[in-house]
Amino acid sequence: MRNVTQETITQVFLDYCGPETSPRLRFLLEHLARHLHDFVRETELTHAEWRKAVELLTKAGEITDNERNEFVLFSDVLGLSSLVDMINSSREATSSSVLGPFHILGAPELAYGGDLKRDNDGATVLVRGQVRGTDGMPLGDAEIELWQTADNGLYSNQDPDQPDYNLRARLAVDSEGRYAVTTVRPAPYTVPDDGPVGELLHATGRHPWRPSHLHFIVTAPGYRGLVTEVFPSDDPYLDEDAVFGVREDLIMHYVERSDTDGVVETIAARDRLTRPYYTVDFDFVLAPDTPA
Ligand code: BEZ
Ligand code: FE
Repeated sequence: MRNVTQETITQVFLDYCGPETSPRLRFLLEHLARHLHDFVRETELTHAEWRKAVELLTKAGEITDNERNEFVLFSDVLGLSSLVDMINSSREATSSSVLGPFHILGAPELAYGGDLKRDNDGATVLVRGQVRGTDGMPLGDAEIELWQTADNGLYSNQDPDQPDYNLRARLAVDSEGRYAVTTVRPAPYTVPDDGPVGELLHATGRHPWRPSHLHFIVTAPGYRGLVTEVFPSDDPYLDEDAVFGVREDLIMHYVERSDTDGVVETIAARDRLTRPYYTVDFDFVLAPDTPA
């Protein structure tokens, strides 16, 4: 096609894809090109605006390294990451939420009822619950990974003053899929806003804060792995998370306590419950790993 027009360019683009294009790739490209081209036609995008977008992406490339991925952050603050999470989540299972850039492999294992707080400052929280399937079956072979910020709002891999793997663990569950761990109450923090993503946030009057949260990855054989986060009900940023990660079923009540009644299953934890402390009860429900 040599006379490409505003009206024909989307079809011309698709016709250029050869027969080796897989049906799924063709389908994705068709929708991508249609929406992208419609966006330009509808907004009548100017050269200056197009150049600005390319400049932001170029800066994202320059700032991205092994520790920081500005493209993922763009996806996060635009709501793209959360939308992908939502459409790939089972409605019967616990909602998934963003993984974020601070997960690292190799966290040490912690026994049932173990302590993650150690010397960390901050309020003590006993977090406990059970892993079940959507059919209600307790999953005694589940694995839970937990990571979170310290009291200063930083993850261990952002803060040279924290020991390696501080506030990170693979939590052992009992035969009924129950877990229990004492830790510190995490603090709210900001996503990095000193790069092009920050430029976009500032230009639109948005702040970079995320509500405090505990990150979890929960897996069990035969079930779909779950990447999620749990948020306290009284966090000031709950309704304005910079990366759209909050879901109703992920909001937990931190219950302030000064007794140890009902903490029987975590006898080992009893001595370390500096009072007052908080309890958080949160169960995880996993969907079977069967094709939809
Ligand atoms: C986080 O929860 O750690 C996070 C998620 C998205 C962007 C930045 C941080
Ligand atoms: Fe986080």
